[in-house]
Amino acid sequence: MKISIIGAGNVGATCANDIINLNLADELVLLDVKEGVTEGKALDLWQTSSIRQFETYVYGVTDDYEATKDSDVVVITAGLPRKPGMSRDDLIEINAGIVQHATREIIKYSPDAKIVIVSNPLDVMTYASFMATNGKNPNEVFGMAGILDAARYKAFIAEELNVSPISVHAILMGGHGDTMVPLPRYTTISSVPVTELLSKEKLDTIIERTKYGGGELVKLMGTSAWYAPGAAAAQMVSAIVKNSRRLFPVSAYLQGEYGLNDLYMGVPVILGRNGIQQIIELKLNDEELELVHKSAESVKSVLEVLRQKVK
Ligand code: LMR
Repeated sequence: MKISIIGAGNVGATCANDIINLNLADELVLLDVKEGVTEGKALDLWQTSSIRQFETYVYGVTDDYEATKDSDVVVITAGLPRKPGMSRDDLIEINAGIVQHATREIIKYSPDAKIVIVSNPLDVMTYASFMATNGKNPNEVFGMAGILDAARYKAFIAEELNVSPISVHAILMGGHGDTMVPLPRYTTISSVPVTELLSKEKLDTIIERTKYGGGELVKLMGTSAWYAPGAAAAQMVSAIVKNSRRLFPVSAYLQGEYGLNDLYMGVPVILGRNGIQQIIELKLNDEELELVHKSAESVKSVLEVLRQKVK
């Protein structure tokens, strides 16, 4: 099993760290354009192997895609992070070029790899990557974000209720942006509906905080988050490598599901060896469906910008 991570910034390096500690692969390649730093971070990670007891050989390369040859899974984190005052959508122009270049190179050396996109604006970068594959099965190209957004939502609920975050189960849909749709009707504390434990007012406050969860961190740190995004991407890689068929919210290519067509957006899926094995269509009520469609509109408007720039 071979895994490659494109982009050795905060998210890429954290994701690499999480993956090697899960002992998922024989080999992990970290690739970036920054000569020295990439090799250095990978070497530093490799030197934790005897302490952490993992056997994944991790090494770094500078822009050498041939080193990623025959990867089973590739995670693309490359691209600029946002700074305070920026929206994820402001990154579209610069990151689309980076993501598409990386995708073409990956496909050249690993045509069968499952590709996980982490770069922002997430849903549209996933679409951009899919376009650059020139005909790959869309179930093999998908984006990380729902796990991250749901993790933030769960963390806030756990804090509010003073319960273990492991007991909080939730599904969240929509684009990875301010219009994302946490779903209280699908949120439980070990099967107990959250609506029985938290007032609507408290829940609404948590939902609002979740929607702006990435922005809250950008404001605090001057750059975007990395621990939770890296961990979320690693969890997806684990589900693929172990063929565990876990149900996660993932940015998937929609072809009629939820009445939406030809866009990537967060929906519940079953993730396994072949990538997205199934998209789950929840029986949303009118209000939930309206919010999901509103989020899709927002993703589509950014997608339109991509289409104008990338012919
Ligand atoms: C996140 O949600 O942490 C990432 O999408 C990075 C960002 O810009 O917020």
